[in-house]
Amino acid sequence: MLRVMMVLFCLAGVAGVVQADATNTPPPEATYVGKEVCKACHLPFFEQIAQDRHGQETDVRTPFSRDGCESCHGPGSNHVAMGGGRGVGGLTVFNE
Ligand code: HEC
Ligand code: HEC
Repeated sequence: MLRVMMVLFCLAGVAGVVQADATNTPPPEATYVGKEVCKACHLPFFEQIAQDRHGQETDVRTPFSRDGCESCHGPGSNHVAMGGGRGVGGLTVFNE
C-alpha cells in the first residue's frame, strides 16, 4: 500500500517526493491508453458510466470526454501491462 501511495504521489508530481525505494525498482511512469482498452476488461463499468452524467463523452464538461476512465483513475498503462487486478499498476482508487 505504501508503495502504491508513493507511486501516486510521484505521478501527481508532489514536490519533494522522490522515488527513493532502493529495494524495489519502480515501474515505468504510466501513460494514458484510452477507454477502449479499459472497456475490454471492464464492460459493466463502461456501460454503467455511459448512463451517468459524468460519462457523456460528447459533453466537454465531463471527465469522460477528456481521458475517459483515466480522467479519474489516472494513466492506466502499467495496470494493463500487468494484466489488471486490484491494487495493480498504481491506479487512483477511491474506496480505501
Ligand atoms: C468521474 C470519475 C470516474 C470515471 C470517469 C471512472 N471512474 Fe471508476 N471509479 C470512480 C470512483 C469515485 C470509484 C470508487 C467508488 C465506487 O466504487 O463506486 C470508482 C471505482 C472503480 C472501480 C472499482 C470498483 C470496486 O469494486 O472496488 C473500477 C474497476 C472502476 N472504477 C473502473 C472504471 C472504468 C473501467 C472506467 C471507464 C469505463 C471508470 N472507472 C471511469 C470514478 C470514476
Ligand atoms: C486485461 C484486463 C484489464 C484491463 C485492460 C484493465 N483492467 Fe482494470 N482491472 C482488471 C481486473 C481483473 C481487476 C480486478 C477485479 C475488479 O476489480 O474488477 C481490475 C481492477 C481495476 C480497478 C480497481 C483497482 C483497485 O485497486 O481497487 C480499477 C479502478 C480499474 N481496474 C481501472 C481500469 C482502467 C481505468 C483501465 C483502462 C486504463 C483498466 N482498468 C484496464 C482487469 C483489467
